Amino acid sequence: MKFSLRDLNVWFGSVHALTDVTMDIPANEILGVIGPANSGKSTFLRTLNRLNELKPNFRMTGDVRLSGADINKTDVDLLRKKVGMVFALPLPLPLSVFDNVAYGPKMHGVRTKKRQKEIVERALKEAYLWDEVKDRLDTPASKLSGGQQQRLCMARTLAVEPEVILFDEPCSGLDPISTAKIEDTMLRLKANYTLVLVTNNVHQASRVADKTAFFLSGRLIELDDTDKIFTAPSDKRTEDYIGGRFG
Ligand SMILES: Nc1ncnc2c1ncn2[C@@H]1O[C@H](COP(=O)(O)OP(=O)(O)O)[C@@H](O)[C@H]1O
Ligand SMILES: [Mg+2]
Repeated sequence: MKFSLRDLNVWFGSVHALTDVTMDIPANEILGVIGPANSGKSTFLRTLNRLNELKPNFRMTGDVRLSGADINKTDVDLLRKKVGMVFALPLPLPLSVFDNVAYGPKMHGVRTKKRQKEIVERALKEAYLWDEVKDRLDTPASKLSGGQQQRLCMARTLAVEPEVILFDEPCSGLDPISTAKIEDTMLRLKANYTLVLVTNNVHQASRVADKTAFFLSGRLIELDDTDKIFTAPSDKRTEDYIGGRFG
């Protein structure tokens, strides 16, 4: 298992955001995470690379392991290098396309321009953006389209060679064609990475996720093969949510 979670509970002050979450996340798959607003999806995702720690009054109990190692006993910078994150709104740095992708590797000590170029090319190819930007690596990232900027953010994450990539509603601001490109990219990436995709669009989970987890009110209601979740869920609440009866 890439991640193993046992009895995870998370609080922000008096808000009990996650309750007794136990699950395993296998390597080289896409785990879809669905559920209505405020069901704990982002909190769950942010637990995996300890981003919740940046919020005030955060407290957690339980056990979260990455490849068997307790994440709370792992150096946090190393953890966040291994577990990268792509957010809902593409937020490229106010730098060129090249420098956006080279930023992480530079921070991690990659000094030579030759090595930086190799990494940038590899990461942009993995994010299926290379062909669209290879002739304008020096232009500001802000000049790219929204969909291209989101794939640039994926390339930025890929540049530091993560094991896991977390996505928090990565297509919520994108048109259908850009969304299809992101989904296609995710499907190709799972050969080499483990992906966790929080989506407010259940159809997106049904298109790309191998397994799907349904959260409600901070609890994991059901986690199963995506086909099973969408055709014969075990829990009535899953069926009602998928069927559009709430949320
Ligand atoms: N920093 C915070 N302080 C207080 N409550 C928070 C904080 N972050 C999240 N929450 C609460 O935790 C619950 C789960 O939120 P979240 O994980 O963002 O849900 P989702 O991503 O499914 O919409 C919500 O009730 C939300 O208000
Ligand atoms: Mg959220």
